[in-house]
Amino acid sequence: MKITVLGTGYVGLSTGVCLAEIGHHVVCIDIDQRKIKNLQEGISPIYEPGLEELLTKNIGAERLDFTTSHLEGLKAAEIIIIAVGTPQGDDGGADLSYIEQAARDIAEHLNHNAIVVIKSTVPVGTNDYIKKILEERLKKDITIKMVSNPEFLRQGSAMHDTIHADRIIIGSDHEEAAKKVGEMYLPLHVPILFTTIRSAEMIKYASNAFLATKISYINEIANLCEAVGADVQDVAKGMGKDKRIGEAFLNPGIGYGGSCFPKDVKALLKTANIYGTNFSMLKETIIINEKQQHLLVKKAINRLGDLKGKKIAMLGLSFKPETDDMREAPSIKIAHLLSQMGTDVVAYDPIATNNAKKVIGNIIRYANSAFEAADGADALFIVTEWDEFKQIDLTRLLQKMKEPIIFDGRNCYGIEKLKSCETLEYYPIGKPAVIIEKQ
Ligand SMILES: NC(=O)c1ccc[n+]([C@@H]2O[C@H](COP(=O)([O-])OP(=O)(O)OC[C@H]3O[C@@H](n4cnc5c(N)ncnc54)[C@H](O)[C@@H]3O)[C@@H](O)[C@H]2O)c1
Repeated sequence: MKITVLGTGYVGLSTGVCLAEIGHHVVCIDIDQRKIKNLQEGISPIYEPGLEELLTKNIGAERLDFTTSHLEGLKAAEIIIIAVGTPQGDDGGADLSYIEQAARDIAEHLNHNAIVVIKSTVPVGTNDYIKKILEERLKKDITIKMVSNPEFLRQGSAMHDTIHADRIIIGSDHEEAAKKVGEMYLPLHVPILFTTIRSAEMIKYASNAFLATKISYINEIANLCEAVGADVQDVAKGMGKDKRIGEAFLNPGIGYGGSCFPKDVKALLKTANIYGTNFSMLKETIIINEKQQHLLVKKAINRLGDLKGKKIAMLGLSFKPETDDMREAPSIKIAHLLSQMGTDVVAYDPIATNNAKKVIGNIIRYANSAFEAADGADALFIVTEWDEFKQIDLTRLLQKMKEPIIFDGRNCYGIEKLKSCETLEYYPIGKPAVIIEKQ
């Protein structure tokens, strides 16, 4: 099939590359000239494992093309997939300005009938709204059919998740259009659920808000475990064995971040408010998450007192491992809290440092390795659970520090690794501290 994707961000690029990989002819359009220039040369603008390899492979096979021209990019499209951003707006709801513009771009340049698929995460009713924008502007005699096809990939494993998705949701009021989009995905052999447009839009928000709530729930359990002297990892394991609960998303930490959960929970709350439903549970999910992002700083103050003039090493900046995305990363809040207190923060991230510099700026310092960050530090915060930190030589890291104190926001270490250290104070989340004194 001939497919055009609007937006080459995490979702649009992953989708375009994977659709080319399964044999379709894909053109990706983006308004960002630098991104497109790089992509034409096979350089990915984002860090995503396995992406660049498939990108160059499919460009080479002439199944994948990139352009900034909507006219050029839409020329042959049977299916047009909109994957532009829907960030949080000033009122907490989704900012639809990019998707409105994408609709205007399509209407202006489309010269034949096509199916328009909205893959961006959009509030219930948006497909109808975008259809109206399109129909008001499309050239005479040109018709489009709308399909809602929300995306569920996770950054850091976008390629894998797109190719091996748990399910594909296709919402449409046109049976024929839904069938055609289903056929587009057929080579993936993924279960497809056909629904109405509004149910499909709702499935995305209901899923993300549920996952965010599951995180806030286990974080509250973790805080309670600390208070009562239980171990949250054992508790989570015991809970997860119950098939009704499941093992996924029961890792306590310092709160969710990223480009989706924070904004999607707020957008669903906004929808609930508009329709007069008091979804108070979501308000608590947000409050718990904000509180959790303060946790490492709170623990450090409890242990070290005033943090003014102290040096803290911060390991990890991206909102989760295997991505360079800094959107709503807990590290941003932590960096600001510490810098406001006059703490000297030196951070290291394997991939996200350049993006972090743009978001956090020079209120903290940046190191080229975990060891450099730890040099002379009064304490160390683990903020993102990169494998590099899990596998690090802890003894060497601790030797670099002024005091061997770790506040681990991601529970990276098992007891065996901790026991191998000569001297250590280790404060995890939801578990008793581990103190090893020099013999
Ligand atoms: N990032 C994720 O993990 C994820 C997962 C599932 C769903 N989503 C949803 O998918 C959507 C896209 O997210 P993302 O993270 O890929 O966004 P992103 O910000 O990384 O990328 C959006 C891209 O769209 C481009 N763009 C904007 N207007 C355009 C236009 N008129 N024509 C062509 N290109 C245009 C931008 O230049 C940018 O490159 C959002 O609605 C998001 O909520 C994201």
